[in-house]
Amino acid sequence: LITVRELYKHPEQYMDKEITIGGWIRSLRDSKSFGFIVISDGTYFEPLQAVYHDTLENFQQVSKLGVGTAVIIKGVLVATPQAKQPFEIQATEVAVEGASAPDYPLQKKRHSFEYLRTISHLRPRTNTFQAVFRVRSLIAYAIHQYFQERDFVYVHTPLITGSDCEGAGEMFQVTTMDLNNIPKTEDGKVDFKQDFFGKPTNLTVSGQLNGETYAMAFRNIYTFGPTFRAENSNTTRHAAEFWMIEPEIAFADLDDNMRLAEGMLKYIIRFVLEHAPEEMNFFNQFVDKGLLDRLNNVLNSEFGRITYTDAVKLLEEHNDQFDYKVSWGCDLQTEHERFLTEQIFKKPVFVTDYPKEIKAFYMKMNPDNRTVAAVDCLVPGIGEIIGGSQREDDYDKLVARMEELGLKKEDYGFYLDLRKYGSARHAGFGLGFERCVMYLTGMSNIRDVIPFPRTVNNCEL
Ligand code: 4AD
Ligand code: MG
Repeated sequence: LITVRELYKHPEQYMDKEITIGGWIRSLRDSKSFGFIVISDGTYFEPLQAVYHDTLENFQQVSKLGVGTAVIIKGVLVATPQAKQPFEIQATEVAVEGASAPDYPLQKKRHSFEYLRTISHLRPRTNTFQAVFRVRSLIAYAIHQYFQERDFVYVHTPLITGSDCEGAGEMFQVTTMDLNNIPKTEDGKVDFKQDFFGKPTNLTVSGQLNGETYAMAFRNIYTFGPTFRAENSNTTRHAAEFWMIEPEIAFADLDDNMRLAEGMLKYIIRFVLEHAPEEMNFFNQFVDKGLLDRLNNVLNSEFGRITYTDAVKLLEEHNDQFDYKVSWGCDLQTEHERFLTEQIFKKPVFVTDYPKEIKAFYMKMNPDNRTVAAVDCLVPGIGEIIGGSQREDDYDKLVARMEELGLKKEDYGFYLDLRKYGSARHAGFGLGFERCVMYLTGMSNIRDVIPFPRTVNNCEL
């Protein structure tokens, strides 16, 4: 079988020759003595049209085939200079591989994203989700390529862990205990000694702490894997299971970190524009009208940069427009992030040097003793897409900060060792993969860029 992508790539090789193609019927129009079948084989964004005539021995059967039927079509590829598509097949054989029942949920009309979420096993057969999930795949490939070209080592960090990297307490516990009959110690507490690992464990919220240990051995590393957060926030940008890319670079500071992040995002944009032009045009036309202009502008300018303190000053002037008023010390909400990147900078922006109180324990303290060397990257349409920092590399300062926050030294022995045996300046960040896919496709709900999304009250399929 030939693929539709191959036909579009090298039409001259197949023109006026007999080919065989397998795919699923997107639509079928029949009349008395001939008909048209539009099929998609999933390999290329554009479908392929086949014309058939009553010379087919199963003409009557073919004319009644339903949308979604899997067929194998043999015929001659002919140029159609007058039509929208550059060529079509003149079918000499249409074999039914698998019929599709008449209650097939995807009929030719347009379905809402809300409805398609209820059939996440069938939605990849639609135009929009063909485009989304091919682009998602390409972004993943581009990210690996970006880091591999720069000799970063890909590290597989564990999904089950005993630590809470972000200290936000939003973890899914992992246990084999019978929840209806939890073993207890003599003083009535849960006896984790009887659990599988002999201690409390959870699904990872970030691979960073493990990633840092490898950066102290390989210098430049990255992770790329699933992370889990039991955030009880029902928003369009939060999922309970999402993927994160976390590079970690040694002998590097916050500036190096931002350069790496900016280079990566631009690389991904360029890669996707080059490798998925049909899909990107589709998004630009049907999903997010200014998308291509916006992405091209990003490629032709530098990201903005502003400190948290200056950003707060700017935002305070617009407090009348916000539901949640800004003042120094508050965590920036999505509305503030979007205002900064959409109204003020009109491009991606790095916000740096946040108050230590609203950031994680591992970030390097700035000389002012109030802020840390943190950086968030905000983009139009979404807000935060990257969170990162330079790490505290001084043993005593890190221990002091952990004590302030009530973190137990013995839980982070391996992490403190890095500051004990050849500590080096280092920095890293986490890119939320789904938010990156949203940014590049213009899709506005994280549920529509994850094949099988997990969010509060939703774990279907
Ligand atoms: O800002 P976060 O929490 O940073 C970290 O986890 C650091 N350990 C990263 C590092 O320095 N190595 O998360 C990083 C990114 C966010 O900017 C966001 O894009 C994404 O992960 N993210 C989520 N994406 C979808 N659903 C959620 N619930 C997310 N939480 C964070
Ligand atoms: Mg963050």
